[in-house]
Amino acid sequence: MVYTSLDALDFQFSDLPSLPRPNRVVLTTPTHFDVEYVINPHMSDNVGAVNKEVAFQQWKALRATYTALDVSPLIVNGRPGLPDMVFCANQTLPFYQPEQDRRGVVLSRMHAEQRREEVPYYGEMFAEQGYAVETLPDDLDVDFEGMGDAIWHPGHFLLWGGYGFRTEPAAYEALSELLAVPVVLLELQDADYYHLDTCFCPLDSTHVLVAPAAFDDESRAIIEQGFDTVIEAPDEEARHQFACNAHSPDGKHVLIQEGCEGTTERLRAEGFSPIELDTSEFLKSGGSVFCMKQMIW
Ligand code: ARG
Repeated sequence: MVYTSLDALDFQFSDLPSLPRPNRVVLTTPTHFDVEYVINPHMSDNVGAVNKEVAFQQWKALRATYTALDVSPLIVNGRPGLPDMVFCANQTLPFYQPEQDRRGVVLSRMHAEQRREEVPYYGEMFAEQGYAVETLPDDLDVDFEGMGDAIWHPGHFLLWGGYGFRTEPAAYEALSELLAVPVVLLELQDADYYHLDTCFCPLDSTHVLVAPAAFDDESRAIIEQGFDTVIEAPDEEARHQFACNAHSPDGKHVLIQEGCEGTTERLRAEGFSPIELDTSEFLKSGGSVFCMKQMIW
């Protein structure tokens, strides 16, 4: 079932089947990372502007942070000619079906032509690792950018699906059927927030961090229905420093771009412990912590 309005929500979030937290993280080396084309507004002034050495140091610090939090990394090597491959949240949607105890990934259908060749590398890697590799129906011609736009509700078997720039709503109809999962749609309305993970970051089953300007009133109301506490990031921090492209692997720590002071203060006030990381080289491409990792079960 796909839900598109507040009125349609005919269930209690707390009644949904529970979903364990994923405990492994996929990270892709930024070996060939650069800004070589422009497919989102953040990239426009940054073609050729990546300092690769600095990018590698920043990526290593991210890897070390996950390791220190006991989340073991599975490392994928970036490929030549695929400068965005480091953003490994986008090529697949990992899933765990609690009722069947079944793990897998659904392959993306990248809207951005320049990124389409990234997908099969991840498909092969996950198949080798023993995951079921699913695809959307062959006869369905839709764009779907994986966990850039489709985000699990922590603790519950429910997906939040962003659409408007990269993923099309019809992809969620197919996903909902394929995984037998309810999907709540959120329309994105501001090109700076082109993926759902740029403006919507569920921290645990009751707290979410958002960039309000990314959504219309209806979507904001739906988000309030789904979480007891909605933490709003200041727009400057969300828009330019990717404050909402953060990640909480454990419902306590929040890995976040450094310098998002208003956001980290609000996170602390809600009992979270921010861990600030510098992802400045990756911000040039329109990504930060959340899209540089893929959590798997
Ligand atoms: N340059 C990449 C793109 O535009 C960045 C992707 C960042 N990923 C994300 N989920 N926000 O596709």
